[in-house]
Amino acid sequence: MGNVRSMGDELTTERLVVREWRPDDAAAALSIYGVDKVTRWLTPAMGQVADEAAMGLVLNAWIEAQPNMMPPRGRWAVERTEDGEVVGGLGIRLLPPYEEDLELSWQLRPDAWGNGYASEAGKALVSWAFTQEIDELFAVARPNNTRAIGTAKRIGMSWVGETDKYYNLRMQVFRIRPSDTAEQSR
Ligand SMILES: CC(C)(COP(=O)(O)OP(=O)(O)OC[C@H]1O[C@@H](n2cnc3c(N)ncnc32)[C@H](O)[C@@H]1OP(=O)(O)O)[C@@H](O)C(=O)NCCC(=O)NCCS
Repeated sequence: MGNVRSMGDELTTERLVVREWRPDDAAAALSIYGVDKVTRWLTPAMGQVADEAAMGLVLNAWIEAQPNMMPPRGRWAVERTEDGEVVGGLGIRLLPPYEEDLELSWQLRPDAWGNGYASEAGKALVSWAFTQEIDELFAVARPNNTRAIGTAKRIGMSWVGETDKYYNLRMQVFRIRPSDTAEQSR
């Protein structure tokens, strides 16, 4: 994880491990990024992946890009400790077109929804991200993406408004700052 190594190669939560993607994650990743129920909500930059071979190519690209990304930017797998299954993915990247705002995004395999995994992993990644000299993270969600909006709030993010500046799509914008996480842990 680039400089994430300074806190160890992975983040561990009560039920999950947030770690780098590996080439042998293709089948698991396809159960997230190959499924319309997930990808229909993602931003246009990430289309639905057709099959395991294509997922393997996407994963290789992510794995190769990761060491060159300035922390806290990156992409990670979310693994469930109980059975070692990859149940989701997390990302932090600069939002286009201005590339000033850092976006946190989360995706879970549909059969893993409803357990609090995205918020648990997301909170851990946010805590780590705030050790990397940044002072805010954003999330964007389509107005009817109620699950994603619920997760943003559970992570401790606040609604800041609606915009179409990022993708020419109407998006709800959420933000978290280090002081918000301090309040949560109180
Ligand atoms: C967005 C997404 C990750 C949310 O999944 P999720 O499982 O609802 O997310 P959370 O981790 O926040 O879990 C909350 C749910 O788990 C339940 N839950 C169960 N145990 C829990 C626990 N220990 N802690 C917290 N929540 C728990 C909550 O009640 C809630 O369920 P409900 O909405 O039915 O009440 C998932 O719907 C998804 O992958 N969507 C497509 C991709 C996407 O839209 N991503 C966001 C934009 S990048």
